[in-house]
Amino acid sequence: MNDAPAPTLPATPAPARLLERLAGRHIVLVGLMGAGKTSVGRRLAQRLGLNFVDSDHAIEESARMSIPEIFALRGEAEFRAGERKVIARLLNERQQVIATGGGAYMDAETRQRVREHSVSLWLNAELPVLMRRVQRRQNRPLLQGEDPEATMRALMEQRYPVYAGADTSILSQEVPHEIMVQAAIDALLAHLDGKAGTASASHDDNRNAPE
Ligand code: S3P
Repeated sequence: MNDAPAPTLPATPAPARLLERLAGRHIVLVGLMGAGKTSVGRRLAQRLGLNFVDSDHAIEESARMSIPEIFALRGEAEFRAGERKVIARLLNERQQVIATGGGAYMDAETRQRVREHSVSLWLNAELPVLMRRVQRRQNRPLLQGEDPEATMRALMEQRYPVYAGADTSILSQEVPHEIMVQAAIDALLAHLDGKAGTASASHDDNRNAPE
């Protein structure tokens, strides 16, 4: 009698499994300013061998102006119209990881398109984490008022119930980027495999925290 365990096939690595389950759909990252959409998205794309695009960057390219200039010269309403158009275009391109600006997913048309063409991931972050990260840069017109923290709190109240409609979410924490990327892959796979739940990255080392 042979007691040796039956040989098992090596497990398919998570990135390959995720790509297979996505079946060509994009990954769309949503969340507030400072949630880490760009830094996590770029590394997630790299890990999966996909292209990465940041919708804010695409808007700036097509307008040939920076976001603060668009807000100042054309106003927020025009920025939102451009954002809707640019994201619709990105969703029609080949499969990629798309980081969206914090307000993009608040638009009903954009949400509908995201649902049709992608799997969405909300980077859920707590107020102190967001504030620490956005303080590093002055490039967010919505946070240039007297009390950016109060603005951020109000945006959390308004937007979190809507972001919660994304397909899945992870808690964005000040941990090394690679841990966030792994949490993202796990959450997306769990969603696509029909296992609900919010993944949470945990690590006691907070160097290299996402911006
Ligand atoms: C905005 C978020 C910004 C940018 C614009 C407005 C928002 O993008 O689109 O300043 O409404 O939350 P990030 O979330 O990438 O900072």
